[in-house]
Amino acid sequence: MKPLATPTRMPDTVRPRLVQMQLPSAQDVRAELAAGLLAPRATIAPKYFYDELGSHLFAAITALDEYTPTRTEAEIFARRRGEIAAAVGPETVFVDLGAGNCAKAARLFGALRPRQYAAVDISVDFLRSALECLQREHPDLEILGIGQDFARGLALPGEVHAQRRLFFYPGSSIGNFAPDEAIVFLHRLHACGAEDAQLLIGVDLIKDEAVLNAAYDDPLGVTAAFNRNVLRHVGRLLDADFDVAQWKHVALYAAREARIEMHLEALADVTVRWPGAERRFARGERIHTENSYKYRPETFAELLRAAGWNPRHVWLDDRAWFALFHAAA
Ligand code: AVI
Repeated sequence: MKPLATPTRMPDTVRPRLVQMQLPSAQDVRAELAAGLLAPRATIAPKYFYDELGSHLFAAITALDEYTPTRTEAEIFARRRGEIAAAVGPETVFVDLGAGNCAKAARLFGALRPRQYAAVDISVDFLRSALECLQREHPDLEILGIGQDFARGLALPGEVHAQRRLFFYPGSSIGNFAPDEAIVFLHRLHACGAEDAQLLIGVDLIKDEAVLNAAYDDPLGVTAAFNRNVLRHVGRLLDADFDVAQWKHVALYAAREARIEMHLEALADVTVRWPGAERRFARGERIHTENSYKYRPETFAELLRAAGWNPRHVWLDDRAWFALFHAAA
């Protein structure tokens, strides 16, 4: 039998620095969830999809043939790496929003050669192991992990250099904001950089409705599991007695709003109880869990301008299904 390898402690000199900004209290979380469930049209915010199982289910979604944004964006990065690097220039302070396992950013390091990497995600616990790994691969890169719910506003610690910030927001997560919220978010981002700040952002584009519907209601039922899992997560956070089996996944493309809507629909009359309150749902009633807005390149360029950004480049795939925008402050 082979002896087990002794885990080696990383020398402090190459340890990434991790900063956890304030997390919302359990009470605030419960208040937000209860308000959403008690609203006449019940809602659960999409950030609650991502407990541990939800994050695995999302990773599984990105591997589905029907779900194209992640794969198409990766193809654009791979094909256009040289052009992206020429547009952005070296020595940026690479601020990765929603960094997760940091893989998308790491693939660009060779071409972009940033001077500092600041990975931001809701909790530093999501970042720790990925950043330790990255730091070993790039011992000379200054790496920082920041735990923060940046959707509410980004506040970077003083260690993040103020000049030459490159905000990196891939994956079309901007589509999970309504357009007016997206403008507010991007405007705040703009205010968080100096006059030389840049933005690299991925956007899913309007395409054939059948393609969009299949991406959010796949035949294997992975997206359905991802959607229904939110009830398990919310059940734990709110101590609510959701019975997942009583809810079905609904996803539909609303062409007028150019968005996919995801809902959970009650299969029977259901009463959900949690400490201090309850909500009755009639059969067929829905909880709205997510919007995923799709854009035309020119509409998104307008949205960037409205948020104070100056679009410089846009790279599309051959089918024009996804766009990667580069903008300057
Ligand atoms: C994270 N976000 C960009 C995904 C989307 O496509 O809106 C979340 C998702 N929801 C269902 N499938 C994927």
